[in-house]
Amino acid sequence: MEEKAVSEDASVAGALIMEHKLIERMIRVLSRETAAGQNGETIAVGLLAAGVDFFNVYADRCHHAKEDNILFRELGRKPLSPEHKKVLDELTGERHERRILLDALLAADERRKAHGPRENAPVVDALKAMCKFYRAHIEKADNHFLPSAMSYLSREEEALILDKFRRLDSILLKENCSRQVEYFE
Ligand SMILES: [Fe+2]
Repeated sequence: MEEKAVSEDASVAGALIMEHKLIERMIRVLSRETAAGQNGETIAVGLLAAGVDFFNVYADRCHHAKEDNILFRELGRKPLSPEHKKVLDELTGERHERRILLDALLAADERRKAHGPRENAPVVDALKAMCKFYRAHIEKADNHFLPSAMSYLSREEEALILDKFRRLDSILLKENCSRQVEYFE
């Protein structure tokens, strides 16, 4: 099953929900693989590295940059209902916990790279914590906020936000390609 790219006619909520679906797919893969190797010794190193990179680059720098720095900032200027304001505050407040989880994941991954498979288990634990965090984030955003909060945006504002999303995607794609080339140079 292939995720659709953000198309010209996609809504802001639709674009973010599609990204959530990809995150959910990664969570399913990691949950399946970590269940098989509880102590972290049997999990493929490639999957560990891919999981770390996915949460760092895609989930944090791409997806959350769109939510925190673009959409939530815009909605924060709107006269939200008390219910929407409450959920927006909760979603915005997740930033601190997410940073702590990501820092722990990256630190565990550095130790794994330095010391080998005996340090796999802390990476697996940190990935599991990430999966738990994202399950809750996605449930809240998709079921209690994103679709209905779009009513605060005009068509012009949505188009502007989608344009900012695309520009960010483009920057990160080029950066990712450069990183890959540098790795093999
Ligand atoms: Fe999200």
